[in-house]
Amino acid sequence: VGAADAEYLVSLIGTIPGFPKEGILFRDFIPVFADPKGLRILMDALVAALPVDAADFDTVAALEARGFLFGPALAARLGKGFVAVRKAGKLPTATIGEDYQLEYGTERIEIEVGAVKPGDRVLVVDDLIATGGSSKAAADLVRRAGGTVAGFEFVMGLDGLDGAAKLGGAPVATLVTMP
Ligand code: ADE
Repeated sequence: VGAADAEYLVSLIGTIPGFPKEGILFRDFIPVFADPKGLRILMDALVAALPVDAADFDTVAALEARGFLFGPALAARLGKGFVAVRKAGKLPTATIGEDYQLEYGTERIEIEVGAVKPGDRVLVVDDLIATGGSSKAAADLVRRAGGTVAGFEFVMGLDGLDGAAKLGGAPVATLVTMP
């Protein structure tokens, strides 16, 4: 991302101390979607900053809920399909699931059996990488389904939590990094 565009994106990201609990500095990127210029920069930047060539993956997987705000739009721009990684209990067919630790709690995510096919190369996207727990869990689901993780892409990275270290060597792209 160019410096001016990155600065513009950051200017739209809200910071809410103490949400959802004390000690968390919550980064809110929802205002980016309300801003036409911000939304255009975001989508252009996601395409420009892909961690691997678009020819080197088959599908885009995003995590509920905030990854769903841009994952399908990114997949559509790239001519790829989309895999929904949902919270436990939401998907109606047979699923595989993984438990993980959040920065502030525990969670379980699932994909439908068959959503990732053996040999599929998957780009995993989410809004924010903190400790990397949810992205690692999504990557583990992709691998358990027989796919490979081509890379990870995040809108925001949090300094100091070293989430990318958890992700096991696949290339990681992050648009903006913040404390
Ligand atoms: N998810 C995990 N940590 C977060 C933070 N600080 N802000 C927004 N979302 C988060």
